[in-house]
Amino acid sequence: MHTLDVALGARSYPIHIGAGLLGQAGLLQPHIRGKQVLIVSNTTVAPLYLDRLRAALGDSVVAECILPDGEAYKDLAHLDLIFTALLKHRFNRDCTLIALGGGVVGDMTGFAAAAYQRGVDFIQIPTTLLAQVDSSVGGKTGVNHALGKNMIGAFKQPNVVIIDTDVLGTLPDRELRAGIAEVIKYGLIRDLPFLEWLEASMTALVARDPVALADAIRRSCENKAAVVAADELEQNDVRALLNLGHTFGHAIETSMGYGVWLHGEAVATGMLMAADLSMRLGWLSASDVQRTRGILLQAGLPVLPPQMSADEYLDHMSVDKKVKDGQLRLVLLKHLGEAVVSTAPAVLLRETLQAGAALGVPR
Ligand code: NAD
Ligand code: GLY
Repeated sequence: MHTLDVALGARSYPIHIGAGLLGQAGLLQPHIRGKQVLIVSNTTVAPLYLDRLRAALGDSVVAECILPDGEAYKDLAHLDLIFTALLKHRFNRDCTLIALGGGVVGDMTGFAAAAYQRGVDFIQIPTTLLAQVDSSVGGKTGVNHALGKNMIGAFKQPNVVIIDTDVLGTLPDRELRAGIAEVIKYGLIRDLPFLEWLEASMTALVARDPVALADAIRRSCENKAAVVAADELEQNDVRALLNLGHTFGHAIETSMGYGVWLHGEAVATGMLMAADLSMRLGWLSASDVQRTRGILLQAGLPVLPPQMSADEYLDHMSVDKKVKDGQLRLVLLKHLGEAVVSTAPAVLLRETLQAGAALGVPR
């Protein structure tokens, strides 16, 4: 088992990474203050892993809230199911919520923990690769709105993140690949040696080699923890770098309907669009863009956006959280391995969007 620390002063917490950690009571129990525990999961993950987690909770009073599965249910209406479960069981302020699932369950559980009685404890047990390398770490929580992705939420750090690499055994291939998109992101934004390692190890990763997967998860969490420690609340354009490709990707997710494109797929295509725009700005070379495309293809990720007009993109992109004083700011690449937050001339952004629209896959 590897243990990393997310260094946030009084809100610091460990990330444990290893095989078979789900049932280990010793990792969980030090982080549960009271007796009441609500496990939040969904209809796919609960039948697979909930019993094992329950068994590790000893004499706690355990209740469950099983959400419908899917990005389409990551909304305020379904968040209310968690509050109803908490109130129905008369849970009080020293209760603990445990998120057992992918990024959707994790984001919703964290937001419920931030809001219930103005804040209770929560624990992340991520079960997708995407959640293990990204969403379970750093305390961004929330839900979607029909008019914008992740637009309603709160920062709420978990007490501990427990990453059991064994649970990836049941994850569908398409979901594994979507998680690899966020892994590649760390290489592109701040860790060129990791990008090189990924290029050499992608075949092993896609084939689910356990050593390669564990290394990729550890290195991703190290990157994420360092960024979060430097800018927990995304105030100084350090944490924003984690959003490479996301402004384009969120536009795709919102426009296509939540869940049609997986988050990681939309981010993959969005990262290539960001690389294309960075080339138009004179920062990346054409071969850097080809290299970005190459690693996404190696991972089996989409590199062509859906056919959306430039105006449709711009409409969705204008509600991005990085917009300041009405100006769209994007995460772009100065070099492979070095991202910046920057505005871009409207004419170049349009060129990138139109190139995508021209090449894109029919809707
Ligand atoms: P997800 O939570 O929808 O999970 C993907 C699918 O895999 C679901 O059908 C789920 O039921 C299933 N699943 C989960 N674990 C499984 C397992 N072990 N075996 C079999 N099936 C399993 O999607 P995701 O990709 O994990 O997360 C995407 C969400 O995360 C998006 O809403 C995105 O906005 C959010 N996100 C948040 C952050 C953050 O910092 N909070 C970062 C990145 C992404
Ligand atoms: N996934 C983006 C962030 O955590 O900031």
